[in-house]
Amino acid sequence: MNRTLLRNRQPEWKALETHHRSIAPLHLRTLFAEDPRRADRFSVEAAGWFLDYSKNRITEQTLDLLFQLARACNFEAAREAMFNGDRINVTENRPVLHVALRNRSNRPILVDGQDVMPEINRVLDQMTDCARRIRAGAWLGYTGKPIRNIVNIGIGGSDLGPVMVTEALKPFSQRSLTVRFVSNVDGTHLAEQIRDLDPAETLFIVASKTFTTQETLTNARSARAWVLAQLKDEAAVARHFIALSTNATEVSRFGIDTANMFEFWDWVGGRYSLTSAIGLPIMIAIGPEHFFSLLDGFHAMDRHFAEAPLESNLPVILALLGVWYNNFFGAATHAILPYDQYLHRFPAYLQQADMESNGKQTDREGRRVHWATGPVIWGEPGTNGQHAFYQLIHQGTQLIPADFIGFARSHNPLGDHHLKFIANFFAQTQALAFGKTTEEVTAEGISKKMVPFRVFEGNRPTNSLLAEQLTPATLGALIALYEHKIFTQGILWNIYSFDQWGVQLGKVLADRILTDLTAPVATPPRHDGSTQALIHRFRSLQSTAPDRMTSR
Ligand code: F6P
Repeated sequence: MNRTLLRNRQPEWKALETHHRSIAPLHLRTLFAEDPRRADRFSVEAAGWFLDYSKNRITEQTLDLLFQLARACNFEAAREAMFNGDRINVTENRPVLHVALRNRSNRPILVDGQDVMPEINRVLDQMTDCARRIRAGAWLGYTGKPIRNIVNIGIGGSDLGPVMVTEALKPFSQRSLTVRFVSNVDGTHLAEQIRDLDPAETLFIVASKTFTTQETLTNARSARAWVLAQLKDEAAVARHFIALSTNATEVSRFGIDTANMFEFWDWVGGRYSLTSAIGLPIMIAIGPEHFFSLLDGFHAMDRHFAEAPLESNLPVILALLGVWYNNFFGAATHAILPYDQYLHRFPAYLQQADMESNGKQTDREGRRVHWATGPVIWGEPGTNGQHAFYQLIHQGTQLIPADFIGFARSHNPLGDHHLKFIANFFAQTQALAFGKTTEEVTAEGISKKMVPFRVFEGNRPTNSLLAEQLTPATLGALIALYEHKIFTQGILWNIYSFDQWGVQLGKVLADRILTDLTAPVATPPRHDGSTQALIHRFRSLQSTAPDRMTSR
């Protein structure tokens, strides 16, 4: 599929296509030289965040046309439908109400005529009580020792958000508690995360929206066996296991008392669930007060997204710029480059949020799309990335729009580290935008032969996001900013952003293959030639491999 093929039904797409032909040859050097006020003109502030988007290949006219496109796609009505609790997740017939989870105004939000806020507040109270008891050393394990270790078992949305936020807000955490995460069904993950823990002091949080996910249930069963191997009494499970889920039936079938279950609801998507009960490990780590500040940050950005005019709406602007590069410049990827070590899991978190939402090929009418939808999201914190993959962003042949994210104040103000850090952030966006011309390189006395290697074309677009400090509130606002960007793009691409049918097939096939990995050798083959041969090779390697020495 041609990434630049457009939705040809709307004149607004055509107008942008025509406009793109006049913008593509323009260089950011020219655009800045022609307009000394460009940085003021193309910057906006909300919920503690300042966005400078002047280093994008746009003019006022580009933005006008993009806003017209959003309006022509009925974006405003779609946004209202989400906040109103309409069943906008059509293929699963559910509302999409993560915004209700952090609705700090408590305005009633109705699902089937019922206000969901009392239930949300009830679970928040239950979480608060649990977090306070654990943090105070008052949640005792089966042998009477206080719980000091929390191990969250979950995957995808039941892991990535809590991991990312717990890492990001480490400066706010109670350091006497150990909070770890196990997601992979690779036994190594569980083994390494618990090897130095005492079961008598460890609480497992089994986090699964459906409570049917193979990886999570497998890890949870092994964790239970590990606890029982030492504590030797089924009654210990109640003190050492709690569940976060929408599925009470499966939770009790697993053997966790539903009194130890923290509920959420089917209108919370897995990848949008970190402000639901799924956020319990975060609340335990940072405490209820900081958790509520996190919710306040989310809510501030939610209100901004719902109320600000499109022209000054941060999520809308980021979304439209993404569409501009994806659908008109053919950019297939988008880099997320946080200049904060605490945000080291933010790109991974956004990969699921964005790619599981907008990695779709079917439009809302059930037809194959003829335009590019969600890009590949990737990234690493600066400055590490600078010494790894930035070369390709600067001088490679692909256009890679990038978001740079940083803070004015560090939680660890060591000497001049932070000044150097932020100097690198600003320098990279400057180099990407303006590059270095042949004339500039030549003027440095570089030999003619070497000049082509030393030239930087520039004209690489970036967004710069800056806040005062990484706090629960600024982090909440940042996450909500990207959530709403993703929503907006789904509307423009006319796809459903809140289902994930593409993950099903692999799960079904894995179950079939699992049976065949241990089936009697004479079982007739039932897979394609390659898969069958891999199964065969795996089985013969397993049966011939000598026992290896393992260090534990
Ligand atoms: O396989 C994808 C997925 O369904 C994600 O959407 C979800 O976040 C993850 O699996 C985990 O699901 P659950 O919370 O139900 O275990």
